[in-house]
Amino acid sequence: QWKTGNIIDTHVDNIRAQVGQDQVLLGLSGGVDSSVVAALLHKAIGDQLVCVFVDTGLLRFKEGDEVMQTMADKMDIRVIRVNAQQQFYSALKGIDDPEQKRRVIGEQFIRIFEQEAKKLDDIKWLAQGTIYPDVIESAGASTGKAHVIKSHHNVGGLPADLALKLIEPLRDLFKDEVRKLGVSLGLPADMVYRHPFPGPGLGVRILGEVKAEYADILARADAIFIEELRRHDLYDKTSQAFAVFLPIKSVGVVGDQRRYEYVIALRAVETIDFMTARWAHLPYEFIDLVSRRIINEIDRVSRVVYDISSKPPATIEWE
Ligand code: XMP
Repeated sequence: QWKTGNIIDTHVDNIRAQVGQDQVLLGLSGGVDSSVVAALLHKAIGDQLVCVFVDTGLLRFKEGDEVMQTMADKMDIRVIRVNAQQQFYSALKGIDDPEQKRRVIGEQFIRIFEQEAKKLDDIKWLAQGTIYPDVIESAGASTGKAHVIKSHHNVGGLPADLALKLIEPLRDLFKDEVRKLGVSLGLPADMVYRHPFPGPGLGVRILGEVKAEYADILARADAIFIEELRRHDLYDKTSQAFAVFLPIKSVGVVGDQRRYEYVIALRAVETIDFMTARWAHLPYEFIDLVSRRIINEIDRVSRVVYDISSKPPATIEWE
């Protein structure tokens, strides 16, 4: 039987034995795996852990502030926040191919992470949020996009000149075990049980070229959708739900004003393994309410559509 208390003690002992008095660096992404590693390492070695959190400008609404509140303020973990939003938007300027966007975001992320790491003295270890399914996936020599980004997410591609030793405390755990561990370590259940979020973030949910303005509109529309899903007790009944930004304009009327603005698509799916998925049959009244709120509250949006494509043939993300 899986006893969280014992598991934590064992992990803590192992980590202490492994790193001794050394300092450990961790890239925090805001995702479940890296947050749980942070909480676990913090419990084991306290301030010998330094986290670097890169705000890419492609995160969910106010997510950067939330990561800092939870990890730095509440959990008392040492976190360095790097506000790299403008760097990401500049690097993505003029690029509209999805795979190229993924590459640019991944490279940018590693570059910024390395820059920060080099400013820190005396780091001996790099911690990663690798979990058991990642280990299997890598062994299978996958070349799929999830794999590419997993390496970005987990800050793979170890900077050679940093010459750090690798520590991966979650390597033997499945996702549900990681989540239980996170809750036992004091992370908020809301965070630990969040829907998956792709490494490139809003970068692949803004179709075509990424712009700061689009990211702002999308993050706000997405927040309204998620807030209503939670309020209506539908969040946990969908496997993944999010908004997508379509950079095309359509005509609308709000009050007696003509509006010629952007389109937001809502995507919600039910799935077990994310390999196949069915579009979520959310209640019409619910979708109606979300659509009205988005158009009323975000004046750069004139139309909301609901995605009724299942996977296959459509993928879950739009890019
Ligand atoms: P697709 O769109 O391939 O998505 O049906 C399946 C699952 O994978 C996630 N996804 C990604 N995750 N980097 C990631 O870390 C990516 O580039 C990426 N692309 C898709 C997607 O959110 C869904 O959960």
